[in-house]
Amino acid sequence: MLVNKTVVLGITGSIAVYKAADLASKLTQVGVRVEVVMTESAMQFVTPLTFRSVTNQSVITSMWEMDSEFSIEHVALADAADIVVIAPATANIIAKLANGIADDMLTSTVLATRAPVVIAPAMHSNMFQNTITQENLGKLKARGFTIIEPSYGYLASGGKGQGRLAEIEKIIGTIKQVLGRDGDLAGKRVVVTAGGTREPIDPVRYVGNRSSGKMGYAVAEAARDRGANVVLIAGSVALPEPPGVEVVHIQTALQMKEAVTRAVAQVDVLIMAAAVADYQPKSRAVQKIKKEAVGPELTLEMVRAPDILSEIRGNFLRIGFAAETENLIGHAREELVKKQLDLIVTNDVTAPDSGFEVDTNQVTIISRGGKMDSLPLMSKRDVADRILDRVAEMLGER
Ligand SMILES: Cc1cc2nc3c(=O)[nH]c(=O)nc-3n(C[C@H](O)[C@H](O)[C@H](O)COP(=O)(O)O)c2cc1C
Repeated sequence: MLVNKTVVLGITGSIAVYKAADLASKLTQVGVRVEVVMTESAMQFVTPLTFRSVTNQSVITSMWEMDSEFSIEHVALADAADIVVIAPATANIIAKLANGIADDMLTSTVLATRAPVVIAPAMHSNMFQNTITQENLGKLKARGFTIIEPSYGYLASGGKGQGRLAEIEKIIGTIKQVLGRDGDLAGKRVVVTAGGTREPIDPVRYVGNRSSGKMGYAVAEAARDRGANVVLIAGSVALPEPPGVEVVHIQTALQMKEAVTRAVAQVDVLIMAAAVADYQPKSRAVQKIKKEAVGPELTLEMVRAPDILSEIRGNFLRIGFAAETENLIGHAREELVKKQLDLIVTNDVTAPDSGFEVDTNQVTIISRGGKMDSLPLMSKRDVADRILDRVAEMLGER
């Protein structure tokens, strides 16, 4: 979705400027045309050569230079932009933008563009918390700018506080979200579940499964990038939270059921990619079970955990996943009918490169009407988009 997009990347005079080289490089690697504009102050920290090298584009450093295709007309760059991103953004540039000042190429471009603008502030926490900076950010937000909050941690000037440039992955996620705002799921509310559940045996042990959450996270990100408002209900996962997605963390099948019940109160689509326990220990020991007390054998009594997709129904699309080890299609069809799903996605988790923990998957999508689509092995993100193609189609038919 970023391929062939033009991102105007404004670089300002913050010590975090070195991180922007990584951002420019990562965007370029995924096919973005990155047009870097540097302020005078930014060039005190890093030379344009760095950005020229990672983007393969000339870097714009002045409104008056004549060797850029955009310098003929100072608004040409503003027109070419699909999105303007300022990272890192100093307190100074934020103040200038909030007040309509256009005294250099970057501020002129922002004032002239109709493209969405994303600002990632980076500064000492005192500068960030200063009411004038907060007021300026408030003004920009009110004008539709997207502000990526700086993170908390060590500051170059010493001490700890909120002011560090947001993580590069978070900035890239936000760019995708903003660019996808008018996508085919714009305004739709999508609930996605991901990861495995953990059913406690005692305070330190649990019954779990091998689900990594990667498939569900890919679906949540893909839905976000197509304009949806996404709630992601995550079991045990070790994945970074996708920016622009509301994440709810749970542990057990029962907690998952409660979270899904709350989230589907107003929803268009429920996609259950989580691996929810079928059985849970009948009781949970209050203290850690000691082998000295139990002896050579321990018997766990298990009872059925809630079957969320069977129990939660409503006027929204319901999509299930069936991870199988045999008779894939037969089992998936049974589930589809039994739970009255709109779509079921099934995969053979014993196949190499498919299923748990890996970044790829090979699935078959079966719809309520019986239509079957066996997809080749592809990235989980591509699988997510193929599922959402069907979701968008079905929403259109409703
Ligand atoms: C070593 C050093 C580090 C700086 N780091 C920051 C910073 O992280 N954030 C910030 O807002 N200003 C920082 N400044 C101050 C800005 O560079 C200064 O306000 C400048 O006028 C910003 O210009 P610009 O917004 O046009 O890039 C720093 C200055 C120095 C000398």
